[in-house]
Amino acid sequence: MTVLPTKLDTKGPDYTAHRATALARIAELETEHAKALAGGGEKYVTRHRKRGKLPARERIELLVDPDTPFLELSPLAAWGSDYAVGASLVTGIGVVEGVECLITANDPTVRGGASNPWTLKKALRANEIAFANRLPVISLVESGGADLPSQKEIFIPGGALFRDLTRLSAAGIPTVAVVFGNSTAGGAYVPGMSDHTVMIKERSKVFLGGPPLVKMATGEESDDESLGGAEMHARTSGLADHFAVDEHDAIRQARRIVARLNRRKAHTDPGPAEPPKYDEDELLGIVPGDLKAPFDPLEVIARLVDGSDFDAFKPLYGPSLATGWARLHGYPVGILANAQGVLFSEESQKAAQFIQLANQRDIPLLFLHNTTGYMVGKEYEQGGIIKHGAMMINAVANSKVPHLSVLMGASYGAGHYGMCGRAYDPRFLFAWPSSKSAVMGPQQLAGVLSIVARASAAAKGQPYDDEADAGLRAMVEQQIEAESLPMFLSGRLYDDGVIDPRDTRTVLGMCLSAIHTAPVEGARGGFGVFRM
Ligand code: COA
Repeated sequence: MTVLPTKLDTKGPDYTAHRATALARIAELETEHAKALAGGGEKYVTRHRKRGKLPARERIELLVDPDTPFLELSPLAAWGSDYAVGASLVTGIGVVEGVECLITANDPTVRGGASNPWTLKKALRANEIAFANRLPVISLVESGGADLPSQKEIFIPGGALFRDLTRLSAAGIPTVAVVFGNSTAGGAYVPGMSDHTVMIKERSKVFLGGPPLVKMATGEESDDESLGGAEMHARTSGLADHFAVDEHDAIRQARRIVARLNRRKAHTDPGPAEPPKYDEDELLGIVPGDLKAPFDPLEVIARLVDGSDFDAFKPLYGPSLATGWARLHGYPVGILANAQGVLFSEESQKAAQFIQLANQRDIPLLFLHNTTGYMVGKEYEQGGIIKHGAMMINAVANSKVPHLSVLMGASYGAGHYGMCGRAYDPRFLFAWPSSKSAVMGPQQLAGVLSIVARASAAAKGQPYDDEADAGLRAMVEQQIEAESLPMFLSGRLYDDGVIDPRDTRTVLGMCLSAIHTAPVEGARGGFGVFRM
Protein backbone atom coordinates (compact mmCIF):
# COMPACT_ATOMS: atom_id res chain seq x y z
CA MET A 1 0.00 0.00 0.00
CA THR A 2 1.09 3.56 -0.71
CA VAL A 3 -0.32 5.44 2.26
CA LEU A 4 -0.27 9.21 1.84
CA PRO A 5 1.60 11.04 4.58
CA THR A 6 0.15 14.20 6.11
CA LYS A 7 1.75 17.53 6.90
CA LEU A 8 -1.45 19.06 8.23
CA ASP A 9 -0.73 20.76 11.54
CA THR A 10 -4.04 20.40 13.32
CA LYS A 11 -2.80 22.54 16.22
CA GLY A 12 -1.51 25.39 14.03
CA PRO A 13 -3.13 28.80 13.48
CA ASP A 14 -3.84 28.20 9.76
CA TYR A 15 -5.77 25.04 10.46
CA THR A 16 -7.76 26.74 13.22
CA ALA A 17 -8.58 29.72 11.01
CA HIS A 18 -9.60 27.59 8.01
CA ARG A 19 -11.77 25.42 10.22
CA ALA A 20 -13.52 28.43 11.77
CA THR A 21 -14.30 29.81 8.29
CA ALA A 22 -15.55 26.42 7.10
CA LEU A 23 -17.83 26.00 10.12
CA ALA A 24 -19.30 29.48 9.63
CA ARG A 25 -20.07 28.67 5.98
CA ILE A 26 -21.60 25.32 6.91
CA ALA A 27 -23.84 27.12 9.42
CA GLU A 28 -25.01 29.48 6.63
CA LEU A 29 -25.64 26.47 4.40
CA GLU A 30 -27.72 24.77 7.08
CA THR A 31 -29.87 27.89 7.40
CA GLU A 32 -30.65 27.67 3.68
CA HIS A 33 -31.24 23.91 3.78
CA ALA A 34 -33.71 24.50 6.61
CA LYS A 35 -35.76 26.66 4.23
CA ALA A 36 -36.13 23.72 1.85
CA LEU A 37 -37.11 21.46 4.74
CA ALA A 38 -39.75 23.95 5.87
CA GLY A 39 -41.54 23.58 2.52
CA GLY A 40 -44.42 26.03 2.18
CA GLY A 41 -44.12 27.11 5.83
CA GLU A 42 -46.01 26.26 9.00
CA LYS A 43 -49.47 27.36 7.82
CA TYR A 44 -49.49 25.08 4.78
CA VAL A 45 -47.70 22.18 6.51
CA THR A 46 -50.23 22.24 9.37
CA ARG A 47 -53.14 22.36 6.91
CA HIS A 48 -51.62 19.44 5.02
CA ARG A 49 -51.26 17.35 8.18
CA LYS A 50 -54.79 18.26 9.30
CA ARG A 51 -56.01 16.73 6.07
CA GLY A 52 -54.38 13.49 7.28
CA LYS A 53 -51.58 13.73 4.73
CA LEU A 54 -47.86 13.12 5.14
CA PRO A 55 -45.25 15.70 4.06
CA ALA A 56 -43.09 14.78 1.04
CA ARG A 57 -39.99 13.85 3.04
CA GLU A 58 -41.99 11.62 5.41
CA ARG A 59 -43.42 9.79 2.41
CA ILE A 60 -39.86 9.20 1.21
CA GLU A 61 -38.73 8.11 4.66
CA LEU A 62 -41.44 5.44 4.75
CA LEU A 63 -40.64 4.35 1.21
CA VAL A 64 -36.92 3.69 1.69
CA ASP A 65 -35.58 0.72 3.63
CA PRO A 66 -35.43 1.37 7.41
CA ASP A 67 -32.18 2.94 8.61
CA THR A 68 -30.83 3.52 5.09
CA PRO A 69 -29.67 6.97 4.00
CA PHE A 70 -31.39 9.12 1.37
CA LEU A 71 -29.04 11.17 -0.79
CA GLU A 72 -31.09 14.30 -1.42
CA LEU A 73 -30.16 16.16 -4.61
CA SER A 74 -30.41 19.86 -5.44
CA PRO A 75 -32.06 20.87 -2.14
CA LEU A 76 -31.21 24.53 -2.85
CA ALA A 77 -32.89 24.60 -6.29
CA ALA A 78 -34.51 28.02 -6.88
CA TRP A 79 -32.28 29.67 -4.23
CA GLY A 80 -32.03 33.38 -4.99
CA SER A 81 -35.11 33.29 -7.26
CA ASP A 82 -38.69 34.41 -6.59
CA TYR A 83 -39.66 30.79 -5.83
CA ALA A 84 -39.33 28.83 -2.60
CA VAL A 85 -35.94 27.20 -1.90
CA GLY A 86 -36.18 23.56 -2.96
CA ALA A 87 -38.48 24.35 -5.91
CA SER A 88 -41.50 22.45 -4.47
CA LEU A 89 -39.92 19.09 -5.32
CA VAL A 90 -37.73 16.66 -3.40
CA THR A 91 -35.40 14.43 -5.45
CA GLY A 92 -32.74 11.96 -4.44
CA ILE A 93 -31.42 8.42 -4.35
CA GLY A 94 -32.67 5.91 -1.80
CA VAL A 95 -32.73 2.15 -1.36
CA VAL A 96 -36.14 0.46 -1.66
CA GLU A 97 -36.29 -3.30 -1.01
CA GLY A 98 -32.52 -3.37 -1.54
CA VAL A 99 -32.77 -1.56 -4.91
CA GLU A 100 -31.21 1.88 -5.41
CA CYS A 101 -33.95 4.08 -6.88
CA LEU A 102 -34.28 7.66 -8.02
CA ILE A 103 -37.14 9.08 -5.95
CA THR A 104 -39.03 12.30 -6.62
CA ALA A 105 -41.76 13.74 -4.45
CA ASN A 106 -43.80 16.88 -5.05
CA ASP A 107 -44.07 19.12 -2.00
CA PRO A 108 -47.79 19.97 -1.96
CA THR A 109 -47.28 22.54 0.81
CA VAL A 110 -45.50 24.87 -1.66
CA ARG A 111 -48.05 26.52 -3.97
CA GLY A 112 -50.05 23.32 -4.17
CA GLY A 113 -46.92 21.44 -5.34
CA ALA A 114 -47.10 23.33 -8.64
CA SER A 115 -44.04 23.17 -10.92
CA ASN A 116 -42.13 26.38 -11.63
CA PRO A 117 -39.13 26.71 -14.00
CA TRP A 118 -36.73 25.51 -11.28
CA THR A 119 -38.94 22.53 -10.44
CA LEU A 120 -38.77 21.53 -14.07
CA LYS A 121 -34.97 21.82 -14.19
CA LYS A 122 -34.69 19.79 -11.02
CA ALA A 123 -37.06 17.09 -12.29
CA LEU A 124 -35.27 16.84 -15.63
CA ARG A 125 -31.92 16.56 -13.85
CA ALA A 126 -33.34 13.71 -11.74
CA ASN A 127 -34.44 11.93 -14.92
CA GLU A 128 -30.95 12.39 -16.39
CA ILE A 129 -29.44 10.75 -13.32
CA ALA A 130 -31.89 7.86 -13.54
CA PHE A 131 -31.06 7.34 -17.22
CA ALA A 132 -27.28 7.49 -16.92
CA ASN A 133 -27.18 5.17 -13.93
CA ARG A 134 -30.16 2.95 -14.86
CA LEU A 135 -31.97 3.67 -11.59
CA PRO A 136 -35.69 2.82 -11.33
CA VAL A 137 -37.77 6.00 -10.88
CA ILE A 138 -40.42 6.31 -8.20
CA SER A 139 -42.60 9.44 -8.46
CA LEU A 140 -44.60 10.41 -5.38
CA VAL A 141 -47.15 12.67 -7.02
CA GLU A 142 -49.26 15.47 -5.58
CA SER A 143 -49.06 18.61 -7.66
CA GLY A 144 -51.15 21.47 -8.96
CA GLY A 145 -49.39 21.00 -12.33
CA ALA A 146 -47.80 23.97 -14.00
CA ASP A 147 -47.26 27.06 -11.87
CA LEU A 148 -49.70 29.05 -13.93
CA PRO A 149 -48.14 32.53 -13.78
CA SER A 150 -44.84 31.10 -15.10
CA GLN A 151 -46.43 28.76 -17.65
CA LYS A 152 -44.55 30.35 -20.55
CA GLU A 153 -41.27 29.09 -19.09
CA ILE A 154 -42.45 25.55 -18.49
CA PHE A 155 -45.29 24.51 -20.75
CA ILE A 156 -43.25 23.81 -23.89
CA PRO A 157 -40.01 22.43 -22.35
CA GLY A 158 -42.09 20.62 -19.69
CA GLY A 159 -43.19 18.00 -22.20
CA ALA A 160 -39.76 16.43 -21.65
CA LEU A 161 -40.94 15.11 -18.29
CA PHE A 162 -43.43 12.72 -19.86
CA ARG A 163 -41.10 11.96 -22.77
CA ASP A 164 -38.40 10.93 -20.27
CA LEU A 165 -40.73 8.58 -18.40
CA THR A 166 -41.55 6.62 -21.52
CA ARG A 167 -37.94 6.66 -22.72
CA LEU A 168 -36.82 5.28 -19.37
CA SER A 169 -39.40 2.55 -19.77
CA ALA A 170 -38.23 1.84 -23.32
CA ALA A 171 -34.67 1.52 -22.00
CA GLY A 172 -35.86 -1.12 -19.54
CA ILE A 173 -35.61 1.19 -16.53
CA PRO A 174 -38.73 0.72 -14.38
CA THR A 175 -40.95 3.66 -13.48
CA VAL A 176 -43.47 3.69 -10.64
CA ALA A 177 -46.00 6.45 -9.86
CA VAL A 178 -47.78 6.70 -6.52
CA VAL A 179 -50.52 9.34 -6.65
CA PHE A 180 -51.21 10.97 -3.28
CA GLY A 181 -53.45 13.78 -4.46
CA ASN A 182 -53.85 16.07 -7.39
CA SER A 183 -52.31 14.93 -10.68
CA THR A 184 -54.32 16.76 -13.29
CA ALA A 185 -53.90 17.97 -16.86
CA GLY A 186 -50.29 17.31 -18.01
CA GLY A 187 -49.65 15.86 -14.56
CA ALA A 188 -51.99 12.99 -15.40
CA TYR A 189 -49.34 11.72 -17.77
CA VAL A 190 -46.99 10.95 -14.87
CA PRO A 191 -49.11 7.91 -13.92
CA GLY A 192 -50.12 7.69 -17.59
CA MET A 193 -46.54 7.13 -18.76
CA SER A 194 -45.28 5.08 -15.79
CA ASP A 195 -44.88 1.29 -15.86
CA HIS A 196 -46.63 0.83 -12.51
CA THR A 197 -49.27 2.98 -10.78
CA VAL A 198 -50.65 3.08 -7.26
CA MET A 199 -53.68 5.23 -6.39
CA ILE A 200 -55.20 6.02 -3.04
CA LYS A 201 -58.86 5.78 -2.08
CA GLU A 202 -60.59 9.19 -2.00
CA ARG A 203 -57.20 10.91 -2.37
CA SER A 204 -55.86 10.47 -5.90
CA LYS A 205 -57.33 12.83 -8.48
CA VAL A 206 -56.13 11.97 -11.94
CA PHE A 207 -57.98 13.65 -14.79
CA LEU A 208 -57.14 15.66 -17.88
CA GLY A 209 -59.66 18.30 -16.84
CA GLY A 210 -61.34 18.81 -13.47
CA PRO A 211 -65.11 19.32 -13.04
CA PRO A 212 -65.04 23.11 -13.77
CA LEU A 213 -63.05 22.63 -16.97
CA VAL A 214 -65.33 19.79 -18.13
CA LYS A 215 -68.35 22.00 -17.46
CA MET A 216 -66.77 24.78 -19.51
CA ALA A 217 -65.71 22.48 -22.33
CA THR A 218 -68.74 20.24 -22.77
CA GLY A 219 -71.33 21.39 -20.28
CA GLU A 220 -71.20 18.02 -18.54
CA GLU A 221 -71.76 17.96 -14.76
CA SER A 222 -69.23 15.74 -12.97
CA ASP A 223 -67.31 15.29 -9.74
CA ASP A 224 -63.70 14.49 -8.78
CA GLU A 225 -64.35 10.84 -7.96
CA SER A 226 -66.14 9.90 -11.15
CA LEU A 227 -63.69 11.85 -13.29
CA GLY A 228 -60.45 10.68 -11.73
CA GLY A 229 -60.74 8.96 -8.33
CA ALA A 230 -58.68 5.91 -7.39
CA GLU A 231 -61.73 3.64 -7.24
CA MET A 232 -62.79 4.66 -10.77
CA HIS A 233 -59.26 4.20 -12.18
CA ALA A 234 -58.81 0.85 -10.43
CA ARG A 235 -62.23 -0.56 -11.45
CA THR A 236 -63.19 1.25 -14.65
CA SER A 237 -60.46 3.06 -16.62
CA GLY A 238 -57.67 0.64 -15.67
CA LEU A 239 -55.14 3.47 -15.16
CA ALA A 240 -54.55 2.34 -11.56
CA ASP A 241 -52.77 -1.00 -11.23
CA HIS A 242 -52.94 -0.92 -7.44
CA PHE A 243 -55.69 0.44 -5.19
CA ALA A 244 -54.47 1.56 -1.76
CA VAL A 245 -56.69 2.38 1.19
CA ASP A 246 -54.42 5.08 2.58
CA GLU A 247 -50.95 6.66 2.20
CA HIS A 248 -49.16 4.00 4.27
CA ASP A 249 -50.81 1.24 2.24
CA ALA A 250 -49.77 2.97 -1.00
CA ILE A 251 -46.15 3.18 0.11
CA ARG A 252 -46.24 -0.49 1.18
CA GLN A 253 -47.58 -1.43 -2.25
CA ALA A 254 -44.90 0.66 -3.99
CA ARG A 255 -42.25 -1.24 -2.03
CA ARG A 256 -43.80 -4.54 -3.13
CA ILE A 257 -43.68 -3.40 -6.76
CA VAL A 258 -39.94 -2.69 -6.43
CA ALA A 259 -39.40 -6.02 -4.67
CA ARG A 260 -40.83 -7.76 -7.75
CA LEU A 261 -38.84 -5.83 -10.36
CA ASN A 262 -36.14 -8.50 -10.52
CA ARG A 263 -33.50 -5.75 -10.61
CA ARG A 264 -29.86 -6.74 -10.69
CA LYS A 265 -26.96 -4.32 -10.65
CA ALA A 266 -24.37 -4.55 -13.41
CA HIS A 267 -21.61 -4.75 -10.80
CA THR A 268 -21.54 -6.50 -7.46
CA ASP A 269 -21.13 -4.46 -4.31
CA PRO A 270 -17.41 -4.46 -3.32
CA GLY A 271 -18.31 -4.93 0.36
CA PRO A 272 -16.88 -3.15 3.39
CA ALA A 273 -13.87 -0.92 2.75
CA GLU A 274 -11.09 0.35 4.97
CA PRO A 275 -11.70 3.95 6.11
CA PRO A 276 -9.05 6.64 5.48
CA LYS A 277 -6.15 6.70 7.97
CA TYR A 278 -6.91 10.33 8.87
CA ASP A 279 -10.02 11.86 10.38
CA GLU A 280 -12.52 13.20 7.80
CA ASP A 281 -13.26 16.02 10.23
CA GLU A 282 -9.85 17.46 9.36
CA LEU A 283 -11.15 18.24 5.85
CA LEU A 284 -12.47 21.46 7.40
CA GLY A 285 -8.97 22.76 8.14
CA ILE A 286 -7.44 22.38 4.67
CA VAL A 287 -9.08 24.91 2.34
CA PRO A 288 -8.15 28.53 3.20
CA GLY A 289 -10.89 31.14 3.46
CA ASP A 290 -9.02 33.15 0.85
CA LEU A 291 -8.85 30.96 -2.24
CA LYS A 292 -5.78 32.80 -3.51
CA ALA A 293 -3.66 30.80 -1.04
CA PRO A 294 -2.85 27.33 -2.42
CA PHE A 295 -3.54 24.11 -0.53
CA ASP A 296 -2.33 20.55 -1.03
CA PRO A 297 -5.07 18.38 -2.54
CA LEU A 298 -3.23 15.25 -1.38
CA GLU A 299 -4.32 16.22 2.14
CA VAL A 300 -7.93 16.04 0.86
CA ILE A 301 -7.37 12.76 -0.98
CA ALA A 302 -5.78 11.27 2.16
CA ARG A 303 -9.07 11.89 3.96
CA LEU A 304 -11.36 10.59 1.21
CA VAL A 305 -9.94 7.33 -0.12
CA ASP A 306 -9.83 3.83 1.37
CA GLY A 307 -6.85 3.43 3.68
CA SER A 308 -5.52 6.82 2.44
CA ASP A 309 -3.90 4.58 -0.17
CA PHE A 310 -3.05 6.53 -3.35
CA ASP A 311 -0.71 5.60 -6.20
CA ALA A 312 0.35 8.82 -7.89
CA PHE A 313 0.68 8.96 -11.67
CA LYS A 314 3.48 11.17 -13.05
CA PRO A 315 3.90 13.15 -9.81
CA LEU A 316 7.05 14.88 -11.08
CA TYR A 317 5.54 15.97 -14.41
CA GLY A 318 2.98 18.79 -14.39
CA PRO A 319 2.93 18.88 -10.58
CA SER A 320 0.19 21.52 -10.48
CA LEU A 321 -2.30 18.69 -11.18
CA ALA A 322 -2.16 15.61 -8.96
CA THR A 323 -3.27 12.41 -10.70
CA GLY A 324 -3.41 8.89 -9.36
CA TRP A 325 -5.33 5.74 -8.51
CA ALA A 326 -7.22 4.84 -5.38
CA ARG A 327 -10.38 3.12 -4.11
CA LEU A 328 -13.35 4.82 -2.54
CA HIS A 329 -15.75 2.61 -0.57
CA GLY A 330 -14.18 -0.28 -2.46
CA TYR A 331 -14.75 1.16 -5.95
CA PRO A 332 -11.67 1.92 -8.05
CA VAL A 333 -11.26 5.59 -8.98
CA GLY A 334 -8.77 7.69 -10.91
CA ILE A 335 -8.37 11.09 -9.27
CA LEU A 336 -7.42 14.43 -10.87
CA ALA A 337 -6.88 17.21 -8.33
CA ASN A 338 -5.61 20.73 -8.91
CA ALA A 339 -2.62 21.55 -6.74
CA GLN A 340 -1.39 25.08 -7.39
CA GLY A 341 -4.47 26.41 -9.14
CA VAL A 342 -3.16 27.03 -12.64
CA LEU A 343 -3.18 24.45 -15.43
CA PHE A 344 -0.12 24.57 -17.69
CA SER A 345 0.64 22.59 -20.87
CA GLU A 346 2.25 19.72 -18.94
CA GLU A 347 -0.73 19.35 -16.61
CA SER A 348 -3.13 19.35 -19.55
CA GLN A 349 -1.20 16.66 -21.43
CA LYS A 350 -0.83 14.57 -18.32
CA ALA A 351 -4.59 14.84 -17.68
CA ALA A 352 -5.39 13.75 -21.25
CA GLN A 353 -3.13 10.71 -20.91
CA PHE A 354 -4.54 9.84 -17.48
CA ILE A 355 -8.14 10.08 -18.71
CA GLN A 356 -7.30 7.76 -21.61
CA LEU A 357 -5.76 5.26 -19.19
CA ALA A 358 -8.88 5.30 -17.00
CA ASN A 359 -10.97 4.62 -20.12
CA GLN A 360 -8.78 1.69 -21.12
CA ARG A 361 -9.17 0.23 -17.60
CA ASP A 362 -12.89 1.08 -17.11
CA ILE A 363 -12.13 3.14 -13.99
CA PRO A 364 -14.44 6.03 -12.95
CA LEU A 365 -12.80 9.43 -12.55
CA LEU A 366 -13.03 11.89 -9.69
CA PHE A 367 -12.20 15.55 -10.38
CA LEU A 368 -11.31 17.69 -7.35
CA HIS A 369 -11.48 21.33 -8.45
CA ASN A 370 -9.31 24.19 -7.30
CA THR A 371 -8.26 25.91 -10.50
CA THR A 372 -8.01 29.46 -11.73
CA GLY A 373 -7.89 28.14 -15.30
CA TYR A 374 -5.29 27.60 -18.00
CA MET A 375 -2.13 29.72 -17.89
CA VAL A 376 -2.12 32.88 -19.99
CA GLY A 377 0.84 34.92 -21.28
CA LYS A 378 3.19 35.03 -24.29
CA GLU A 379 5.41 32.19 -23.17
CA TYR A 380 2.46 29.89 -22.61
CA GLU A 381 0.61 30.83 -25.77
CA GLN A 382 3.77 30.18 -27.75
CA GLY A 383 4.18 26.90 -25.88
CA GLY A 384 0.76 25.77 -27.16
CA ILE A 385 -1.43 26.18 -24.07
CA ILE A 386 -4.56 26.32 -26.26
CA LYS A 387 -3.90 23.04 -28.01
CA HIS A 388 -2.87 21.34 -24.77
CA GLY A 389 -5.95 22.63 -22.95
CA ALA A 390 -8.00 21.47 -25.95
CA MET A 391 -6.44 18.01 -25.55
CA MET A 392 -7.59 17.80 -21.95
CA ILE A 393 -11.07 19.07 -22.81
CA ASN A 394 -11.28 16.59 -25.71
CA ALA A 395 -10.33 13.75 -23.35
CA VAL A 396 -12.89 14.81 -20.72
CA ALA A 397 -15.67 15.39 -23.24
CA ASN A 398 -15.28 12.04 -24.99
CA SER A 399 -14.37 9.92 -21.99
CA LYS A 400 -17.05 7.27 -21.36
CA VAL A 401 -16.23 6.22 -17.81
CA PRO A 402 -18.45 7.85 -15.16
CA HIS A 403 -17.13 11.17 -13.83
CA LEU A 404 -17.64 12.70 -10.41
CA SER A 405 -16.77 16.35 -9.77
CA VAL A 406 -16.30 18.10 -6.46
CA LEU A 407 -15.69 21.85 -6.38
CA MET A 408 -13.45 22.35 -3.34
CA GLY A 409 -12.10 25.82 -4.08
CA ALA A 410 -11.85 27.86 -7.25
CA SER A 411 -13.30 26.56 -10.49
CA TYR A 412 -12.70 29.34 -12.95
CA GLY A 413 -12.55 29.75 -16.70
CA ALA A 414 -11.88 26.88 -19.06
CA GLY A 415 -10.30 25.11 -16.09
CA HIS A 416 -13.89 24.40 -14.97
CA TYR A 417 -14.48 22.69 -18.32
CA GLY A 418 -11.21 20.71 -18.37
CA MET A 419 -11.94 19.48 -14.84
CA CYS A 420 -15.34 18.18 -15.97
CA GLY A 421 -17.61 21.09 -15.07
CA ARG A 422 -21.39 20.84 -15.33
CA ALA A 423 -21.55 21.06 -19.14
CA TYR A 424 -19.28 18.00 -19.43
CA ASP A 425 -21.95 15.76 -17.92
CA PRO A 426 -20.32 14.43 -14.79
CA ARG A 427 -22.65 11.77 -13.35
CA PHE A 428 -22.71 13.87 -10.16
CA LEU A 429 -21.27 17.26 -9.26
CA PHE A 430 -21.12 18.62 -5.73
CA ALA A 431 -19.70 21.84 -4.32
CA TRP A 432 -18.13 22.60 -0.95
CA PRO A 433 -19.28 25.78 0.80
CA SER A 434 -15.75 27.13 0.20
CA SER A 435 -15.99 26.91 -3.60
CA LYS A 436 -16.44 29.61 -6.21
CA SER A 437 -17.05 29.31 -9.92
CA ALA A 438 -17.18 31.89 -12.69
CA VAL A 439 -15.62 32.81 -16.01
CA MET A 440 -12.82 34.41 -13.98
CA GLY A 441 -12.22 35.91 -10.55
CA PRO A 442 -14.32 39.00 -9.65
CA GLN A 443 -11.32 41.38 -9.47
CA GLN A 444 -9.91 40.14 -12.77
CA LEU A 445 -13.30 40.44 -14.46
CA ALA A 446 -13.89 43.98 -13.16
CA GLY A 447 -10.32 44.92 -14.17
CA VAL A 448 -10.79 43.57 -17.70
CA LEU A 449 -14.06 45.51 -18.08
CA SER A 450 -12.32 48.67 -16.93
CA ILE A 451 -9.38 48.26 -19.36
CA VAL A 452 -11.80 47.63 -22.24
CA ALA A 453 -13.92 50.70 -21.31
CA ARG A 454 -10.83 52.89 -21.02
CA ALA A 455 -9.56 51.76 -24.43
CA SER A 456 -12.98 52.30 -25.97
CA ALA A 457 -13.13 55.88 -24.61
CA ALA A 458 -9.60 56.56 -25.90
CA ALA A 459 -10.53 55.23 -29.36
CA LYS A 460 -13.47 57.66 -29.49
CA GLY A 461 -11.25 60.50 -28.23
CA GLN A 462 -13.43 60.85 -25.12
CA PRO A 463 -12.16 61.56 -21.60
CA TYR A 464 -12.36 58.70 -19.10
CA ASP A 465 -13.98 59.26 -15.71
CA ASP A 466 -11.68 57.52 -13.20
CA GLU A 467 -14.01 58.07 -10.27
CA ALA A 468 -16.94 56.46 -12.07
CA ASP A 469 -14.61 53.65 -13.12
CA ALA A 470 -13.67 52.88 -9.51
CA GLY A 471 -17.37 52.79 -8.56
CA LEU A 472 -18.24 50.56 -11.48
CA ARG A 473 -15.38 48.19 -10.69
CA ALA A 474 -16.50 47.85 -7.09
CA MET A 475 -20.08 47.17 -8.19
CA VAL A 476 -19.08 44.59 -10.80
CA GLU A 477 -16.75 42.89 -8.34
CA GLN A 478 -19.55 42.58 -5.82
CA GLN A 479 -21.97 41.24 -8.42
CA ILE A 480 -19.54 38.60 -9.75
CA GLU A 481 -18.55 37.58 -6.24
CA ALA A 482 -22.23 36.97 -5.36
CA GLU A 483 -22.81 35.06 -8.59
CA SER A 484 -19.75 32.83 -7.99
CA LEU A 485 -20.96 31.49 -4.65
CA PRO A 486 -22.10 27.89 -4.29
CA MET A 487 -25.62 28.66 -3.02
CA PHE A 488 -26.30 30.91 -6.00
CA LEU A 489 -24.95 28.30 -8.44
CA SER A 490 -26.81 25.47 -6.69
CA GLY A 491 -30.01 27.54 -6.93
CA ARG A 492 -29.56 27.47 -10.70
CA LEU A 493 -29.02 23.69 -10.71
CA TYR A 494 -25.37 24.01 -11.74
CA ASP A 495 -24.52 21.30 -9.23
CA ASP A 496 -26.34 18.45 -7.49
CA GLY A 497 -25.91 20.01 -4.07
CA VAL A 498 -23.62 21.91 -1.74
CA ILE A 499 -22.23 19.47 0.80
CA ASP A 500 -20.40 19.58 4.11
CA PRO A 501 -16.80 18.54 3.25
CA ARG A 502 -16.98 15.97 6.03
CA ASP A 503 -19.75 14.14 4.15
CA THR A 504 -17.79 13.94 0.88
CA ARG A 505 -16.61 10.36 1.25
CA THR A 506 -20.11 9.15 2.14
CA VAL A 507 -21.76 11.12 -0.67
CA LEU A 508 -19.23 9.92 -3.26
CA GLY A 509 -19.58 6.35 -1.98
CA MET A 510 -23.36 6.50 -2.46
CA CYS A 511 -22.88 7.95 -5.94
CA LEU A 512 -20.34 5.27 -6.90
CA SER A 513 -22.69 2.58 -5.70
CA ALA A 514 -25.57 4.07 -7.74
CA ILE A 515 -23.26 4.44 -10.76
CA HIS A 516 -22.37 0.74 -10.65
CA THR A 517 -26.02 -0.16 -11.22
CA ALA A 518 -25.17 0.44 -14.90
CA PRO A 519 -22.18 -1.12 -16.69
CA VAL A 520 -18.95 0.92 -16.38
CA GLU A 521 -17.19 0.84 -19.73
CA GLY A 522 -14.54 3.26 -20.93
CA ALA A 523 -14.04 4.59 -24.44
CA ARG A 524 -11.49 2.47 -26.29
CA GLY A 525 -11.26 5.03 -29.07
CA GLY A 526 -13.73 7.64 -30.17
CA PHE A 527 -11.89 10.72 -28.97
CA GLY A 528 -11.80 13.76 -31.21
CA VAL A 529 -8.62 14.64 -33.08
CA PHE A 530 -5.88 15.26 -30.51
CA ARG A 531 -3.99 18.30 -31.71
CA MET A 532 -0.36 17.44 -30.96
N1 COA B 1 -50.07 27.65 -10.15
C1 COA B 1 -49.80 28.65 -9.29
N2 COA B 1 -50.23 28.66 -8.01
C2 COA B 1 -50.93 27.61 -7.61
C3 COA B 1 -51.24 26.54 -8.44
C4 COA B 1 -50.77 26.59 -9.77
N3 COA B 1 -50.99 25.60 -10.62
N4 COA B 1 -51.98 25.65 -7.76
C5 COA B 1 -52.11 26.14 -6.53
N5 COA B 1 -51.50 27.34 -6.42
C6 COA B 1 -51.40 28.21 -5.23
C7 COA B 1 -52.76 28.68 -4.79
O1 COA B 1 -53.12 29.86 -5.45
C8 COA B 1 -52.56 28.90 -3.30
O2 COA B 1 -51.90 30.14 -3.09
P1 COA B 1 -52.28 31.04 -1.82
O3 COA B 1 -52.24 30.16 -0.63
O4 COA B 1 -51.20 32.09 -1.82
O5 COA B 1 -53.63 31.56 -2.07
C9 COA B 1 -51.57 27.83 -2.92
O6 COA B 1 -50.94 27.44 -4.14
C10 COA B 1 -52.20 26.62 -2.29
O7 COA B 1 -53.30 26.23 -3.11
P2 COA B 1 -54.69 25.72 -2.51
O8 COA B 1 -55.68 25.66 -3.61
O9 COA B 1 -55.04 26.48 -1.29
O10 COA B 1 -54.24 24.26 -2.06
P3 COA B 1 -55.09 22.93 -2.00
O11 COA B 1 -54.17 21.95 -1.40
O12 COA B 1 -56.38 23.15 -1.35
O13 COA B 1 -55.35 22.54 -3.52
C11 COA B 1 -54.75 22.14 -5.82
C12 COA B 1 -54.27 22.25 -4.35
C13 COA B 1 -53.49 21.89 -6.63
C14 COA B 1 -55.70 20.97 -5.92
C15 COA B 1 -55.48 23.43 -6.26
O14 COA B 1 -54.70 24.55 -5.87
C16 COA B 1 -55.67 23.51 -7.75
O15 COA B 1 -56.60 22.94 -8.27
N6 COA B 1 -54.79 24.23 -8.49
C17 COA B 1 -54.86 24.41 -9.91
C18 COA B 1 -54.58 23.10 -10.62
C19 COA B 1 -54.53 23.26 -12.13
O16 COA B 1 -55.54 23.31 -12.78
N7 COA B 1 -53.31 23.34 -12.66
C20 COA B 1 -53.07 23.48 -14.04
C21 COA B 1 -52.54 22.22 -14.55
S1 COA B 1 -51.59 22.40 -16.00
